[in-house]
Amino acid sequence: MDFKDLIRTRRSMRKFTDEKVTEPEVKALLRAALMSPSSKSIRNWNFVVVDDKETIKQLAHCKKMGAEFLEGVPLAIVVTANPTENDVWIEDASIASLMIQLQAEELGLGSCWAQIRNRAAEDGTPANTIVHNILGLPDSLEVLSIIGVGHKAAERKPMEDDKLLWNQVHYNKFGNTK
Ligand SMILES: Cc1cc2nc3c(=O)[nH]c(=O)nc-3n(C[C@H](O)[C@H](O)[C@H](O)COP(=O)(O)O)c2cc1C
Repeated sequence: MDFKDLIRTRRSMRKFTDEKVTEPEVKALLRAALMSPSSKSIRNWNFVVVDDKETIKQLAHCKKMGAEFLEGVPLAIVVTANPTENDVWIEDASIASLMIQLQAEELGLGSCWAQIRNRAAEDGTPANTIVHNILGLPDSLEVLSIIGVGHKAAERKPMEDDKLLWNQVHYNKFGNTK
């Protein structure tokens, strides 16, 4: 798939078959994450690969809503970074998250981002704390996202060119559109 098609067909997938993601596919996803550009090339992300069903189930309940889809994923990649070493850890971890999603699409897999940073469970406990407890993460790390990956079990229409917000693009001065 060329890049133009890849970015068109990548849509968030929240329904998955039971088929496992193979070891070479997992490796390719992590390779993409580890190739992400990062500020000053600090590369201080850590990725936790979760394929244990019970652990994934627990992760799916780490926040009030929006992570339920994880219950059905065969693979979850938890994206973390160290904020004390990196003032732009959010940007770096976001780029790595997207790299995983783009690589998943290229492999014919579906994916979806579950936001963890700034999210909380029903009782107000930060989702970050809950994920720390589930995975035994060190205090130095913050969790940005969990990327659920698997074989698609639903149709999603590709992005349509005529729905793009070209009016939000400006040339030379704000307000100059083409
Ligand atoms: C920063 C960010 C946070 C997101 N958080 C969630 C989330 O917690 N749960 C979820 O189901 N989707 C989440 N998404 C997916 C978006 O809802 C989705 O990308 C958006 O609706 C556009 O749809 P598309 O990805 O199919 O093009 C998130 C996406 C981004 C970029």
